[in-house]
Amino acid sequence: MKAFILERYGKQRALTLAELPTPALRDDEVLVEVHAAGVNLLDAKIRNGEFKLILPYRLPLVLGHDVAGVVVKAGPRVRRFKPGDEVHARVDDFRIGSFAEFVPVREASLALKPQGLTMEEAASIPLVGLTAWQALVEKARLAKGQKVFIQAGSGGVGTFAIQLARHLGATVATTTSAANTALVKGLGAEVVIDYRTQDFESILRDQDVVLNSQDGKTLEKSLRVLKAGGRLISISGPPDPDFGRDIGAPGFVRLAMRLLSAGVRRRAAARGIDYAFLFMKADGRQLQQIARLIEDGAIRPVIDKVFPFAATNEALAHVESGRAKGKVVIRVK
Ligand SMILES: NC(=O)c1ccc[n+]([C@@H]2O[C@H](COP(=O)([O-])OP(=O)(O)OC[C@H]3O[C@@H](n4cnc5c(N)ncnc54)[C@H](OP(=O)(O)O)[C@@H]3O)[C@@H](O)[C@H]2O)c1
Repeated sequence: MKAFILERYGKQRALTLAELPTPALRDDEVLVEVHAAGVNLLDAKIRNGEFKLILPYRLPLVLGHDVAGVVVKAGPRVRRFKPGDEVHARVDDFRIGSFAEFVPVREASLALKPQGLTMEEAASIPLVGLTAWQALVEKARLAKGQKVFIQAGSGGVGTFAIQLARHLGATVATTTSAANTALVKGLGAEVVIDYRTQDFESILRDQDVVLNSQDGKTLEKSLRVLKAGGRLISISGPPDPDFGRDIGAPGFVRLAMRLLSAGVRRRAAARGIDYAFLFMKADGRQLQQIARLIEDGAIRPVIDKVFPFAATNEALAHVESGRAKGKVVIRVK
């Protein structure tokens, strides 16, 4: 099969198009013929070598975490999927590789493609959809009537999280630049702050939940717009000791996480705020719940641009530009 491989870590290092054997299937996996692959900043960060401690991959490696396609083969322990099924998934860590013609996916991480979506739309959903779900539903238990501040509302995570928060009945505030105001309002944001000209700290107060996806300075300011008893969930770091334990990180990595997050955890505790780092996980059942919301019309995919498979490096560069409005997808078949 054709696949884009990472041969050596490095910033802006191009992936190489290569011919590889189709990956061997484990008993609890299906083989998916990739029709479309979603591109995430995580792919670029792994390529840069920024995730070596958390995700120690051996090279060469096929990147790509999001897939939509058709099941062509099922392992002997697979019960819920069969060849011919149209599916999508965030593939598991250490089993990634959707920038290729075929990728194996664990049954537990897979869901049927939401009805009415194209393959490109279906490939745009899993990683950001699960991130928003695990942050707002699982960790924050966001409830009707609460106030949530979702940073970067025009990005991949933001466009999904705004819609999910609205569906849950929360009032949404978000940041973006002026050109994207109409987009985020259309998704359900009520308070829209232009981060280039306005300071969210002077506008927001008493938020129940903040979904932080930006830098350390933004994280600190986020603490000050939350009310006591609120929750600060960060998807851009710093990782906390719970996360280190969850992934079974070695002692020195866990110590590093404890130290990196000590300041924000201390300042959060002093204000009665719960700080948590989230690194989203593959989860087919949650993806199925998300599919229902899409089929009911509560959430729609937002796609910035679809690139042909041959332009996988350009797609990655576009995501890295930080200007994407919603998701970037690669059409593989
Ligand atoms: N931990 C996890 O599980 C997890 C999961 C997913 C993502 N992430 C991380 O979360 C972050 C966001 O991911 P993403 O995929 O949503 O990114 P993205 O799609 O690349 O975000 C691009 C958007 O961010 C906006 N933006 C850029 N700088 C901003 C700022 N200072 N304030 C507000 N908006 C800004 C841009 O709007 P303008 O063009 O208007 O500037 C653009 O629309 C990344 O760091 C990513 O690695 C973590």
